Amino acid sequence: MNNHKVLTVTLNPSIDIGTEADEVITDQKTRCASPSFDPGGGGINVSRVLNRLGIYSDALFISGGYTGNLLKEMMKEENIPAIPIESPDKTRQNIAIIDNSIGKQYRFVLPGLVSDLNIWESALQKIDELTDQYDFIIASGSLPDGIPENTYSEIASIAKKHNSAFILDTSKSSLIKGIEQGAEFIKPNQEEFQEMKQIFGAATDSELYELLFQKGVKNIVHTHGKEKTLLITPESETSFTPPKINLRSTIGAGDSFIGGLVAGLIKGFTKQQAVGYGISAAASTLQSEGTDLCDAAEVEEIYSTNFQSHL
Ligand SMILES: Nc1ncnc2c1ncn2[C@@H]1O[C@H](COP(=O)(O)OP(=O)(O)OP(=O)(O)O)[C@@H](O)[C@H]1O
Ligand SMILES: [Mg+2]
Repeated sequence: MNNHKVLTVTLNPSIDIGTEADEVITDQKTRCASPSFDPGGGGINVSRVLNRLGIYSDALFISGGYTGNLLKEMMKEENIPAIPIESPDKTRQNIAIIDNSIGKQYRFVLPGLVSDLNIWESALQKIDELTDQYDFIIASGSLPDGIPENTYSEIASIAKKHNSAFILDTSKSSLIKGIEQGAEFIKPNQEEFQEMKQIFGAATDSELYELLFQKGVKNIVHTHGKEKTLLITPESETSFTPPKINLRSTIGAGDSFIGGLVAGLIKGFTKQQAVGYGISAAASTLQSEGTDLCDAAEVEEIYSTNFQSHL
């Protein structure tokens, strides 16, 4: 038993490699600068953001092969208690390269694989065993190939059984199937929202909000990049304007939002304040270089300037 209130779940973690080059060229060697290596995948990034904001979480993830061993080492270095589910399939690696000739970043994302369904069952069983300890179960990121698309709704059911709040941030079919058992919060961006609208056949945004509430989603954070973020509940709709930022890298913005939101809720903020805190964490991450995540002092400053007295 420990006093961590949050469990993050990352079924498709990664080793994230970041570097830059004068110019990315085809058919020749692109010489790159020294790389950075970070543990990655949605839930792991949320745990890293929570750590920076002084909220401690445990991170459950599937880990395999020598890259899985490296991932576990990296989690130790980050001081995040790891709950690895061992798999024979190697943990994937992703690479992001800034092309300095155009000032833009290429993000290459490789697939992960779980070839044995026993691994998936062990992960669900472990979550079920542990969930009584946690107030929040945060599932974030894609699902690896080989894992059923309804996995996140299975985790939602486990969370419901143990009275834990389930927070889901994912996309495509893992989002569509993942909300079948409801969720405390979901955070679709515009692309994810439009896709859901199409698949569920909703004619308007309001129609989709209503449908999601019927499925048991309690709070919808519908983000629109730098334009606005909406918090929709069955009772109210609040619009937030993100602060103007000096954009450096978009890596980790969504996970930083979720980390900030949950940190806010644990600190006893209102829902609106917690969303403001999430936007502040995302803004700080967007202003940091490459794979760097938010800085706690900067998050506080952005929050107090833009949101604290207004919410
Ligand atoms: N250009 C921007 N300026 C200021 N804030 C931004 C900008 N883009 C995104 N944000 C903030 O980041 C938060 C998360 O953004 P969003 O939901 O679009 O991320 P995402 O598309 O899920 O990203 P990810 O690739 O990390 O999953 C939003 O609440 C928004 O406030
Ligand atoms: Mg996202």
